[in-house]
Amino acid sequence: MDDLSLLIDLHISADRQGPGGTAQTRLAIELSGLSEQQGLKIADMGCGTGASTLLLAQDLDAHIVAVDFLPDFLDALRSRAAQAGLADRIETVNASMDALPFDAESLDAIWSEGAIYNIGFENGVRMWRPYLKPGGILAVSELTWLTASRPAELEDHWHRQYPEVGTAASKMAVLERNGYAPIGYFVLPEHCWLDGYYRPMQLRFSAFLARHASSDAACAVVAAEALEIDLYERHRSFVSYGFYLARKIDAAHPALAAAPKPIEHGMESSAGHQADQR
Ligand SMILES: C[S@@+](CC[C@H](N)C(=O)[O-])C[C@H]1O[C@@H](n2cnc3c(N)ncnc32)[C@H](O)[C@@H]1O
Repeated sequence: MDDLSLLIDLHISADRQGPGGTAQTRLAIELSGLSEQQGLKIADMGCGTGASTLLLAQDLDAHIVAVDFLPDFLDALRSRAAQAGLADRIETVNASMDALPFDAESLDAIWSEGAIYNIGFENGVRMWRPYLKPGGILAVSELTWLTASRPAELEDHWHRQYPEVGTAASKMAVLERNGYAPIGYFVLPEHCWLDGYYRPMQLRFSAFLARHASSDAACAVVAAEALEIDLYERHRSFVSYGFYLARKIDAAHPALAAAPKPIEHGMESSAGHQADQR
């Protein structure tokens, strides 16, 4: 089995494929102001098996288009949607986040939890903006430094895995220079990493290794995840996901004229960010 298939196998049965939580998705929904509106069309980019998709469909008067480039995750999402009685509100699209089938100005909101880094934060917010209606909402969670300086070990690791990691101030600046007005921000608390993501993953390690007869490749997947977990546990006060809410501003806004070219990104190959290297 190749590395990608192993990663799918490790993560597909999880509620979430990255740090997050029900209360945090709901807080973002509240900050977005979307609850006030009817007949919404929302895309959930890098939806995985649909933790946020299901909540959006449940809590909002909306049609959700769940986008992921892994058909296996989309199959799991459809099963979960059917079980929850939400299938008629959710459509799945097997596509890459940087090659989307949407019409210009067709979406009321773009949601993305723990996934935009796959195409890079600045590249993503620039590429997705045209799909939003004027005044449309962008809601994304993104790896974020919580402090101005960090332990070298932590900084080296994440700079290798995701060079665009930055402080909230730097992410807000990216939003502002790409035609968005930030309207909300909060930090995912530790339990979103530990209880929402890492602990359930650790509980799956032994069955995963047994399914793959502790092959070298399977052991390497577990070792990479364990390394990231250890790093997070020791340095959790310095890094988290920030949840950013922003509104698309008018295209004539002068800030857009000065917007720089998007940053080029390859696919990252980290753990935590590992479930996504497909
Ligand atoms: C860390 S997981 C987060 C999944 C989900 N949003 C959650 O919070 O549970 C990132 C997701 O992005 C998807 N992904 C990675 N690169 C992608 C791409 N270029 N286009 C579409 N989906 C992608 C992965 O398959 C994975 O489901």
